[in-house]
Amino acid sequence: MIPPVDSRDDILTPALLVDLDAMEANIARMAAHLAGRGRGFRPHGKTHKCPAIAERLIAAGAVGICAAKLSEAEVFAAHGIPGLLVTTPVIGPPKIARAIHLAARAPDTIFSVDDPGNVRAFDEAAGAAGVAVNLAVDLFFGRTGIPPGQPALELARLIHGLAHARFAGLQAYDAAASHTTGYEARVARTRATMAQAVDTRRLIEQSGMPCPMVSSGSTGTYSIDAEIDGITELQPGSFLFMDVDYSRVGGPDEGPYRDFTRALTVITTVVSKLETAAIVDGGYKAFSTDRPLVPEAVDLPGARYAWAGDEHGRLDLSHVTRDVRVGDRIEFAVPHCDPTVNLYDRMYAVRGGRVEAVWPIAARGMSQ
Ligand SMILES: Cc1ncc(COP(=O)(O)O)c(C=O)c1O
Repeated sequence: MIPPVDSRDDILTPALLVDLDAMEANIARMAAHLAGRGRGFRPHGKTHKCPAIAERLIAAGAVGICAAKLSEAEVFAAHGIPGLLVTTPVIGPPKIARAIHLAARAPDTIFSVDDPGNVRAFDEAAGAAGVAVNLAVDLFFGRTGIPPGQPALELARLIHGLAHARFAGLQAYDAAASHTTGYEARVARTRATMAQAVDTRRLIEQSGMPCPMVSSGSTGTYSIDAEIDGITELQPGSFLFMDVDYSRVGGPDEGPYRDFTRALTVITTVVSKLETAAIVDGGYKAFSTDRPLVPEAVDLPGARYAWAGDEHGRLDLSHVTRDVRVGDRIEFAVPHCDPTVNLYDRMYAVRGGRVEAVWPIAARGMSQ
């Protein structure tokens, strides 16, 4: 049982905070940008894993929410979130049985596929359950997926010809494009891969099959992809929160990427003080460690964080001008938002000094 907390100062540390003013501004900006260009908005739920945020995104005009995994989608469905797109292939009979169960409860759910055997298994399971299942062909741009062009067309044709599968369109996320550093390099990368996606759509439609969806895009490429005819919707995630990693990919002026404002922080407490270093109560278990980046102190210019173990971080204070004491609370921008969120059971939604809500991160750990 979590005791109610009204003031930001009373949140026990380490804790995950979302600044509501910043997140709401990020949502409004992304939603307006995509609406202004006639693109759908299906933001990725893997970033927040939080039904309360999914509800806000739907209220802002999102057509649905992406989920990385089946179990993540199940959580969103249980909270009544519509328009789920599962962006990773669902493999093997036990998971397919659960996917079909989900399709029966939430018939607009779409599953990504890249393998003919997997497509047939979906069709058979759907037939046995007496439901139809929506399948999107996942295009290969370096990770999962089937190569764009003829191979993707053939898979679409297979789906189209089956009794219980419906061809929903193309899943065309390009992971490498989203984090390409340097704006011009990012433009070049995403234009090249998205051209393959829209060419594949054309090929499918020329062969007589409707291809209603090409879902793509990310925080790093949204403004580029939204200008490409044939991309029907975008699925960015990190724009909600932002992190140290995304601040470094480079904006259009080749300075920092500033399209969205940092909304996510981890708050810590100084638990020990040495001469020019402070030990805070946030280490490997409080921040993701998947990138060669460290947390950045938000209101302590000159402080440099170093990992000091599972539970601790060491802040070098040699270049800090103000006094730092045991008991001080220090907030950090996180190196990478998605895996950091996955470390916490709840998120404190704050506005200024007030805690407006405590949101369960209900799909935390839902990686199956
Ligand atoms: C399939 C897919 N789509 C969209 C996204 C969102 O990307 P970003 O967080 O860079 O906006 C991700 C992130 O990893 C993803 O895996």
